[in-house]
Amino acid sequence: MNGIVNSLGGTNTSVAPGTPRIVSSRFDEPQGHTLEGYRSTGSYRGYEGLRAVLDMGPDEAGEMVKEATLLGRGGAGFPAGVKWGFCPPGVWPRYIVVNGDESEPGTYKDRVLMERDPHQLIEGCLIAAYAIGAAQVFLYVRGEMAHAQERVAAALNEAYEANLVGRNILGTDFSVDIVLTWGAGAYIVGEETALIESLEGHRGMPRLKPPFFPAAKGLYMRPTVVNNVETLSNLPWMANHGVSEYRAIGTENSPGTRLIALSGHVNSPGVFEVPQGTTTFRDLFESPEFGGGIRDGHELKMFIPGGASAPWFFAEHVDLPLEAKVVGPEGSMLGSGAVVVMDETTDAVRACLRIVRFFARESCGKCTPCREGTTWEEQILTRLLEGHGRPGDLELLLDVADNISPGPYPVASDPQNSLEAVPYPPRQTTICPLGPSSVAPITSAIRRFRSEFTDKITRRPSIPVGSETPAPATAATAGEVGHG
Ligand SMILES: Cc1cc2nc3c(=O)[nH]c(=O)nc-3n(C[C@H](O)[C@H](O)[C@H](O)COP(=O)(O)O)c2cc1C
Ligand code: SF4
Repeated sequence: MNGIVNSLGGTNTSVAPGTPRIVSSRFDEPQGHTLEGYRSTGSYRGYEGLRAVLDMGPDEAGEMVKEATLLGRGGAGFPAGVKWGFCPPGVWPRYIVVNGDESEPGTYKDRVLMERDPHQLIEGCLIAAYAIGAAQVFLYVRGEMAHAQERVAAALNEAYEANLVGRNILGTDFSVDIVLTWGAGAYIVGEETALIESLEGHRGMPRLKPPFFPAAKGLYMRPTVVNNVETLSNLPWMANHGVSEYRAIGTENSPGTRLIALSGHVNSPGVFEVPQGTTTFRDLFESPEFGGGIRDGHELKMFIPGGASAPWFFAEHVDLPLEAKVVGPEGSMLGSGAVVVMDETTDAVRACLRIVRFFARESCGKCTPCREGTTWEEQILTRLLEGHGRPGDLELLLDVADNISPGPYPVASDPQNSLEAVPYPPRQTTICPLGPSSVAPITSAIRRFRSEFTDKITRRPSIPVGSETPAPATAATAGEVGHG
């Protein structure tokens, strides 16, 4: 389960006190997903930003996004305006691909954006399409998100009828179509080149980068900008309020807000909009607006600051701010904005297996270290938990991990043992970062909780894997970290 149920029958949502709601202002509006609701509620009037941008001209619109330093919210945090500028001049047609495939375990903020404010995303797509001169927008929504698909489809129909999408938008000579595509539910298709392959009708497997990056040769080998749902959803507010108001929120390096999907052992998991760089993990876990404290008065054991791919943090890291440029040197990443909390009742080896098993299942199999390595990692962890662990298993596990991502792998500092942090990102022998993602829980857990692993080898407890106790009804527990 992802998040608790609120009065609107969905995920619990909130915003930091005093923070302008940039992307979540209609989350609590029962009709916020309709065209009428988009125009009459929220922190700006729907489609007024598009009108303003159409008056500006495409170059000025692109400059606005560049000046704002809108960092991508899909994981890598690359500035959107800079990425748009990589499209080779004079090469047409160009495309925009919207990444709504969201499947990183713990991440569920794009789903909420698409369900509760689909017109905001559509307006964001239109602003981006105008700025780069895109001939067509392809909106790719994850297969299992039936409600999000319905909401986006209904909003698109309304927008077409109102002449907000299609030919001669709002009476101008700007024309663009938005095509909605449903994925088939593979995590790897969230990787931008795998997504492009899938859109082209092929099996979703990542392409080698370099030589070609999508901005130069993407969909059908044409210049293609791939952006995340949340990234584009920022544009209407920005077009209404201007760059200086946008940059006044957050920090110099990371302006604006971020949606954080909080799950695991907190009293109140949900999707929260926070200013970048000023909110700390402690605020997120403890404040009544957000997590409301660790469940049942338990102690924090560890937390994952940026989705299942991220190395783990521990109690001494809770006062770090939610800012990519701070979290990276400390040995982890903010990634897709998914924070997973695990209290002291969590078995580190079991938590590690749950995450590794996800990556093993989702490996596309294109490269050997990932295809074979993730399966080996899963097998070794499974036998440790089932009481069949062998002496040397930890060394074998780390050796397999090292074949996927040659060390030293990024890890958080460990002051008790005077160990320094190894900064993010990891190295890789693979085509894409999925393989190395499976290494994150292994190196994090072994470095910090080695005795939990060795105990399982020496005491040989027999814990059948798959017999986990169900999660409490109020929390998306770490053990229940699902597929988004
Ligand atoms: C294995 C893997 C899965 C990914 N899944 C997603 C995803 O579900 N959604 C997303 O927006 N980006 C995902 N990404 C990142 C995309 O490749 C790409 O960087 C992103 O969509 C670019 O958008 P942005 O610049 O707006 O962040 C994934 C990357 C990898 C390696
Ligand atoms: S790292 Fe894994 S998921 Fe990525 S291309 Fe290689 S086999 Fe596929």
